Amino acid sequence: MISREESLGLVKKHVKNRNLVNHMIAVSAIMKGMANHFGEEPALWEAVGMLHDVDYERTSDDFPRHGLLSAVMVADYLPEEGLKAIRAHNPMTGVEAESRIEISLFSADAISGMIVAGALVRPTRLEGMKPKSLRSRMKDKSFARNVSRENIMRCEEIGLDLNTFLTLSIEAMQSVSDEIGL
Ligand SMILES: [Fe+2]
Repeated sequence: MISREESLGLVKKHVKNRNLVNHMIAVSAIMKGMANHFGEEPALWEAVGMLHDVDYERTSDDFPRHGLLSAVMVADYLPEEGLKAIRAHNPMTGVEAESRIEISLFSADAISGMIVAGALVRPTRLEGMKPKSLRSRMKDKSFARNVSRENIMRCEEIGLDLNTFLTLSIEAMQSVSDEIGL
């Protein structure tokens, strides 16, 4: 399995936007936390989270290719299971997210956006963030309106209730807070 250092290296090579790199670090941490929760393979899930948007700056004018190109770019580093999750995280590819890892990436992608938005309006950022306050932010439709609540809620399809998912995701992002500047 590709190491975290290697996958982060690939991301930095192909993605110049620092916010986007931070997004991938965050999704990677959440995916690792989800893998641990489910008793799945943390190294694989972590790598899938890290690499899922590696093509982002190359597909900006051809969004239906987003995810498909990532899977091609990292084909040598991940098993098919991981590549399919990457293809399926963009609904425009027509690849449906169905398995546990696929739905996890879908939900992790969305929840990371919500947590970043929530951290940015707190003086202490991620430090001390509670699932409960994030839940009330989620109910406010005008808050982080581009973050799909529906995508976040897909966690329930894989037996993860929202509270557990929020707790796990906040903790995961706190573990990389220095790296992502939050
Ligand atoms: Fe993403």
